[in-house]
Amino acid sequence: MKFFLDTANLEEIRQAASLGVLDGVTTNPSLVAKEGAEFEKRIYDICEIVQGPVSAEVVSTDTEGMIAEAHKLKNIHRWVVVKLPTIPDGLKAAKRLLAEGTKVNMTLCFSASQALLVGKLGATYVSPFVGRLDDISHVGMDLIRDIVTIYRNYSFTTQVLAASLRHPLHVVDAAKAGAHVATMPYKVIEQLIKHPLTDKGLAQFLKDWEKAQQSLVRA
Ligand code: E4P
Repeated sequence: MKFFLDTANLEEIRQAASLGVLDGVTTNPSLVAKEGAEFEKRIYDICEIVQGPVSAEVVSTDTEGMIAEAHKLKNIHRWVVVKLPTIPDGLKAAKRLLAEGTKVNMTLCFSASQALLVGKLGATYVSPFVGRLDDISHVGMDLIRDIVTIYRNYSFTTQVLAASLRHPLHVVDAAKAGAHVATMPYKVIEQLIKHPLTDKGLAQFLKDWEKAQQSLVRA
């Protein structure tokens, strides 16, 4: 499973990269706006750190506008993946962009029917939003399971990028479901590592070691 960080914050990206588990980054207009940075410069800086796929989202809602934006985004850095909304104009834009060799991530996917169309198109990634479905009392992870099954049935090449993951169990469940990629906030990466018994066990080992050293010195 590949791990992407869902952020536009450079420090978080550096931290995750230093752990050695970072394969890519996803951004969206809300995440970039939160940073208050100049958009193109920020995407370039992220790509330079990650040296892996970085999703940058268009804000146009019509096919021609999306394609024009996609061309600009692609010019920022070779690692840019163009993120498009899963709406009819987004599908049309994706078809043309894929034909010219541009990688696309179809975002805001909330149903298996949407994902089926994305798979048929052969998009690079589909991003089903787990947490936002949970927020409205749907089991978001069921969508990941359904999409993985459908894509396997037809050997679709589109990678399932589990998005809107809010806690470590989301990541584990997405891995069990067979998602190719999990994108998560930095906080979730920290939560994946943390275990109170690891901390407690380590403290005990160090204490016992120290005690043994002191006995040796006394002897
Ligand atoms: C994915 O590409 C999205 O940026 C993200 O996962 C959305 O997460 P949220 O629902 O927590 O905002």
